[in-house]
Amino acid sequence: MAAWRDGTRDDPIPCREADAGLFEITARDGRGRLGKLHTQHGILETPALLPVINPNIRTIEPREMWDRYGIGALITNSYIIWKHEHLKEMAISEGVHSLLNFPGVIMSDSGTFQSYIYGDVEVGVEEIVQFQCSIGVDIATMLDVFSRPDMDEKEVAQCVEETIQRAPASLDAAGSTMLNGPIQGGLFKHLRTESAQKMGQLDFSVHPIGGIVPVMERHMYKDYAKIMLSSIPHLPPNRPVHMFGCGHPMLFPMSIALGADLFDSAAYALFARDGRLLTPWGTQKIAKLVEWPERMPCVSSVTPSEVREMAEKERTALLARYNLEVTLAELDRCKQAIRDGTIWRLAERRSHQHPALREAFLWLSTSPHNAKFDLKNLEELVLDDRDAAKDTDHPAGKWEDAWNWIVKAQESPRKGGEPWGGEDTIVRPHIISAQNTLKSRWRPREKSQRGDDSVLIAYGTSGPWRERLSDLMLRLEHHCPGLEVMIHTPIGLLPYSLEDLNPFTHIDGPKWLWRRKPLTLQVRQELKQYGMDNRQIIMVDMLGDGIQARAIHALAQNGVLDGISEANTQLSDSKDRSYSLLSLRRRHVGDKMALLMNLNHKWISTLLEESSFVVNRLGRVKNVLLSDGTHIVSPRLTDGGLSLTNDGAVAIHNYRNVPIPTGFEQPSSETLSDLGPAWVVVNVDAEPFVRQGRNVFHGFILACDSWISPGDTCLIVNQSGELLGHGISNGTVRDMETFQKGVSVKTRGGIKE
Ligand code: GUN
Repeated sequence: MAAWRDGTRDDPIPCREADAGLFEITARDGRGRLGKLHTQHGILETPALLPVINPNIRTIEPREMWDRYGIGALITNSYIIWKHEHLKEMAISEGVHSLLNFPGVIMSDSGTFQSYIYGDVEVGVEEIVQFQCSIGVDIATMLDVFSRPDMDEKEVAQCVEETIQRAPASLDAAGSTMLNGPIQGGLFKHLRTESAQKMGQLDFSVHPIGGIVPVMERHMYKDYAKIMLSSIPHLPPNRPVHMFGCGHPMLFPMSIALGADLFDSAAYALFARDGRLLTPWGTQKIAKLVEWPERMPCVSSVTPSEVREMAEKERTALLARYNLEVTLAELDRCKQAIRDGTIWRLAERRSHQHPALREAFLWLSTSPHNAKFDLKNLEELVLDDRDAAKDTDHPAGKWEDAWNWIVKAQESPRKGGEPWGGEDTIVRPHIISAQNTLKSRWRPREKSQRGDDSVLIAYGTSGPWRERLSDLMLRLEHHCPGLEVMIHTPIGLLPYSLEDLNPFTHIDGPKWLWRRKPLTLQVRQELKQYGMDNRQIIMVDMLGDGIQARAIHALAQNGVLDGISEANTQLSDSKDRSYSLLSLRRRHVGDKMALLMNLNHKWISTLLEESSFVVNRLGRVKNVLLSDGTHIVSPRLTDGGLSLTNDGAVAIHNYRNVPIPTGFEQPSSETLSDLGPAWVVVNVDAEPFVRQGRNVFHGFILACDSWISPGDTCLIVNQSGELLGHGISNGTVRDMETFQKGVSVKTRGGIKE
């Protein structure tokens, strides 16, 4: 935000001419994103709230919104201006920024909402767009056709069709002015999708999701979530998504987690007129209040009862300020949550504030993906709902694509603890994403050696497990190297080789959560994913002293040690110990390379055959060295991940045995494991910069692999496939394909020529 002087704020600096209309992402958390929209009236940071300004009734002056509240954009109604002669004249002669006395971004609506409330409007499709351009708005809106939730399929299809038909003429009329292309479709999944696909192909700058005001008014939040999920995945990701008429802070976290960038609110003023206060947990009437739900700056020196005594105009203005302050504060929380990687958790918390919001959230997070967790009651709820919903003629399973759209955009592993939040925890998308990666990329050893018919399940306590188990692991590595040891965590079984991997290791919850002895049936089901369901399951409680003795005893009793007496499992020979240690370390590193770099286990085993390790004084691996001393990766303590070195990138680059990508092929539903880290092909202009270690920017990318996702290690190459550098991806294939601004790969190392 620009400098503040005596309660005023500097006017915005126009964006660079070449950037006008571009949108970039500056931070992301799954589908939640912080962005910048470049306009002639400044760079609008998103997610943003655009307060609705009725030019006839100004409850809070737009200038005050800019100066005091730091609001970067507002929305006004061009149809109201067009209809009132005095406003129209002034807007045409002086421009809309002067009419409203607002220096920031001004978006205008077209009169569609008036036609929904009052019936037809008498303005033409091109006429209203031309008018918006003539008064100098930054973002105009075409005259779309409002689709109501009570309309039948045929009526809604007409709204969608008519809106699409009006689009080309509207875009022509807009010329260089940015134009909103609203998505209609009522409650019909396929019509929302069709609307998004067809409108998305046209040259709009922003896509509002329209027709949702009555959905929100009736608290149909599950439908609201469905509308988002049937539209947003089909829109070009490089355009901001605006939730038309959504200004209730209670809906912000869920909306933002599902990809919303812009909101507009008349609610702050409308509710104030009605004596109602907005809060992130619903709406409260001032008539009954003794204390403020949240003590916002504008009411710090007055009580609710004093406000009730005020004259109507003064009271309404104060309550509107209160509502605006509360709304902005919640938006700030959402933005910080994106930076912290906790937007889903915020949505999860807020979902408890309203039964309809909870229903929406449960629908979202318990879609068909998680049957394995056997949330019987929730499953039934979802099934009921599928029958009732208007998407019955389209397979319910189709929502799985939408859910995967969320899951595949999650960064994993992440830093920090994972607070337990009851059953909601196991359906957090980044946790599902981590489980999916484990499922598709981890494999048990192929060695046919002693122990390969059994699995040891260690349960009973939270990590770190290394100290508790390391001695046991050395013995097992020596005596029964075919045995797999899996740790039972509240979010699933974790191979011991990945014992410090986030989020499995970092679930912060009550002791009982870890104390539970797993059910054999459940364990067997999980083992099936790794082809180990035929193995003998041996469980051992990790809590308390003597874990080694307990485990060895259990293994002996179950015939795994096969003739070796329990006492003889001690590794007295230091050579045996060091050999076991080396092989365990290779497994740790190898399994992580398979998981996090999508490499084939056999190939890794060959690579690491003669590898050695630099360890710190606590015995933790710092660097992994190949037989010739080349340092290839370093394990990270913060999230259990691996940091690749330049030499490591060179080694992995040689692994590739599939062609260089030539475009932006969409990810297929089959798992693309073992193909190596995704490649990003950049053009010749970017080549020298990448080689120097500079980030890759959108607009310089020619192609990338379909399996790229945010947070993944990737290799940066030129069109001939030569390695230029390596880094961390900032986006999905669609992001790489469509964005023209912003960082696409955070380069970690450049490879000199
Ligand atoms: N304001 C609230 N909903 C809508 C909508 O669907 N279309 C337009 N143009 N404006 C709106």
